[in-house]
Amino acid sequence: MPEAVVQRTYGQSDVLNIEKITVNDPADDEILIKQTAIGIHFHDIYVRTGLYKTLNLPGIPGVEASGIIEKLGKSVNNLKVGDRVVYITGSYGAYSSHRVINHKIVAKIPDELDDATMATNFSRALTVNMLTEQVFNLKDKKIILVTAAAGGVGRLLCQYLNSMGKIVIGTVGSQEKITLAKSYGCKNAFIYNDDNIIEYSKEITKGNGFDLVYDSVGLDTFEQSYNLASNCGYLINFGQSSGPIPPVEMSKLAQKSLSISRPILFHYTNQRSLFENMSRSVFDQFINNVYSLEDKMCFDLKNVSQAHDILESRKGGGSLYLKP
Ligand SMILES: NC(=O)c1ccc[n+]([C@@H]2O[C@H](COP(=O)([O-])OP(=O)(O)OC[C@H]3O[C@@H](n4cnc5c(N)ncnc54)[C@H](OP(=O)(O)O)[C@@H]3O)[C@@H](O)[C@H]2O)c1
Repeated sequence: MPEAVVQRTYGQSDVLNIEKITVNDPADDEILIKQTAIGIHFHDIYVRTGLYKTLNLPGIPGVEASGIIEKLGKSVNNLKVGDRVVYITGSYGAYSSHRVINHKIVAKIPDELDDATMATNFSRALTVNMLTEQVFNLKDKKIILVTAAAGGVGRLLCQYLNSMGKIVIGTVGSQEKITLAKSYGCKNAFIYNDDNIIEYSKEITKGNGFDLVYDSVGLDTFEQSYNLASNCGYLINFGQSSGPIPPVEMSKLAQKSLSISRPILFHYTNQRSLFENMSRSVFDQFINNVYSLEDKMCFDLKNVSQAHDILESRKGGGSLYLKP
């Protein structure tokens, strides 16, 4: 019988529990997927704790998964039963063994790629595509700072920027992650808010500051990210792993003619043709080994609480997934 992780209240990881569920037949434009791998993300923790009240409770969390199509709605003619697909959704419901979903939000996984790699890295690689190809043109940006350079998105972002010939400097939370960040293409890496980065930044940017800063840590790093960005530079904040950034005065941007952007992936992937282009590009990158990926950590669906605890402790690297 199909089962899912149901969240009935906000709180610690023990609010996530397995329940039996009923799964309907797909409507005309939907497909039924037997899920094989479900990605776990920091976003899921914000939803669990109530920092984001975007999931109606009781509800099934989870935004990304892959699986095999078991049934097609009448009007779905671009996919077939047995196809392997991956999806991301802002409507939640991914923490389940089976699910019915609109066919327009899935992408067919190429034969060369496996379900677990996609369930853990598809949205991250799409995020990298958004940050480097969609938000604005990186052509003239040479020296770039990436916070959380050894995190799930961070490690892909560093590798991709490196493949574009950019000079990438990373910041991370621990000494071990400095080594990791360097292995992902950072020329150098520092622990957050280590003052040594100020001198180093002066040296490597000839006193100008970084052309571009990618900040996903938020509260703990925003001030340093602002300080290290060059005049007329760019700061792209795309996450808040340490907490939300307080409101920023326009006059603060004026002090260095700084441009700030706060992009959200779903605003890009909700445009079907853009989603198709971004997916194709991301699949090609995985097939062509642009990314070297860490080992994945697999948890049985019923052990979801343990997986959340590990992610929250920052000990699990970036690729945790649930197996129904
Ligand atoms: N805007 C978008 O559309 C979009 C898309 C995808 C992801 N995101 C966001 O981007 C961020 C990174 O995503 P991800 O998938 O790379 O997550 P992740 O793999 O969990 O990496 C996040 C990293 O943040 C660092 N960190 C710093 N302060 C932290 C704290 N207080 N608690 C936990 N971690 C902390 C950790 O690295 P250290 O141990 O080195 O500090 C951790 O590895 C998240 O906030 C996520 O919600 C946004």
